[in-house]
Amino acid sequence: MVAEQYLKSVFKGKRVFVTGHTGFKGAWLLQILNWLGANVKGYSLEPEKSNDLYNQISGDSLCYSSVIADICDKQKLTTELVRFEPDFVFHLAAQALVKRGYEMPSYTFMVNAQGTAHVLDAIHSLKTPCIGVMITTDKVYDNPERGIPFNEDDKLGGYDPYSASKAAAEIVIDSYRRSFFNPAFYIQHHKSIAAARAGNVIGGGDFSDNRIIPDIVRSISFGESVGLRNPFSVRPWQHVLEPLGAYLLLAAKLTEDPLRYATAYNFGPNPEDMLTVEELTKIFFNAYGSGSHKNLELENMPHEAKLLLLDSTKALVELGWKSKMNAQTAIEMTAKWYADKHNNAHNKCMEQIKAYFL
Ligand SMILES: NC(=O)c1ccc[n+]([C@@H]2O[C@H](COP(=O)([O-])OP(=O)(O)OC[C@H]3O[C@@H](n4cnc5c(N)ncnc54)[C@H](O)[C@@H]3O)[C@@H](O)[C@H]2O)c1
Repeated sequence: MVAEQYLKSVFKGKRVFVTGHTGFKGAWLLQILNWLGANVKGYSLEPEKSNDLYNQISGDSLCYSSVIADICDKQKLTTELVRFEPDFVFHLAAQALVKRGYEMPSYTFMVNAQGTAHVLDAIHSLKTPCIGVMITTDKVYDNPERGIPFNEDDKLGGYDPYSASKAAAEIVIDSYRRSFFNPAFYIQHHKSIAAARAGNVIGGGDFSDNRIIPDIVRSISFGESVGLRNPFSVRPWQHVLEPLGAYLLLAAKLTEDPLRYATAYNFGPNPEDMLTVEELTKIFFNAYGSGSHKNLELENMPHEAKLLLLDSTKALVELGWKSKMNAQTAIEMTAKWYADKHNNAHNKCMEQIKAYFL
């Protein structure tokens, strides 16, 4: 159950520290937490572009406080987190792009693996109880591309630097959980840390480079055909509200039982509900009302995993979580967000948030 009343009973009046609040998922999470009545302190770099969702929703006005700083600055991060004494930490800050991971590999490892260690160090310095949900990705699994859904016990790994840096973050999280936040000694530290693995998300307000929906929206606005790099790649498309609802549910469950749920969970869509990049593009155009595409045949493309499936049985059995919408609905909701030229970005997000958590 991820319903409004349940989440309000958990988060209303609570202090929530969110790293990565200026990013795409962070901006949606900020709006949900604000609506639930939580006090959010964000810690991130500046939004990269003036039209980023965070700027469009006037994100600063939804925060109790917004700190623009680097998670690589361990002292600053620790000071800001410890001073706030958060009840919850959602760690989303990351170098989150596969392509940039190839361009800046050591930086990607520093932000994603070392940065996660900094967040955990800061939580370790806290004298007050705290629940931490660490956000990684479905790309943390060693992926031989056999089309078999990964479960949480599968081998971690990563071909490209982004995936490997997130797998490294998982190892960091597991080490800190055993060494400093061990459920067996909860009574001494009062910290409860979980990891959440979800896949590619789509949703309104994403203007990042090298992501399919923003590429589609940009091409429509320029009156051009969108070029598809990997038209036949199958991806588990998920609306951004699905993993965010899952992260909130996981944090809520940790308040009920801080020992049992302090582990890693997959939050993927139904494995039967897969679409290719080309199918997604066609559904988007249909719901948006216009658009055209061409399939690109590019040579020397850096390796990108073609098939990624998550087995989310553990989340279903232990947390009662399952995805609420299929890929088609997620794509249509996203297209409608961009097609709506009357409402402002925050109103459009809030309309979809309220409908989702009903
Ligand atoms: N968007 C997806 O499809 C997807 C899929 C799986 C996992 N994830 C994970 O979800 C999280 C959020 O992703 P997103 O799509 O919102 O990414 P995003 O790129 O839109 O946002 C990244 C956020 O991290 C912050 N950040 C980056 N480097 C930082 C640094 N050195 N110090 C402080 N803050 C820093 C940015 O300022 C921004 O707020 C990431 O951990 C990402 O790996 C995203």
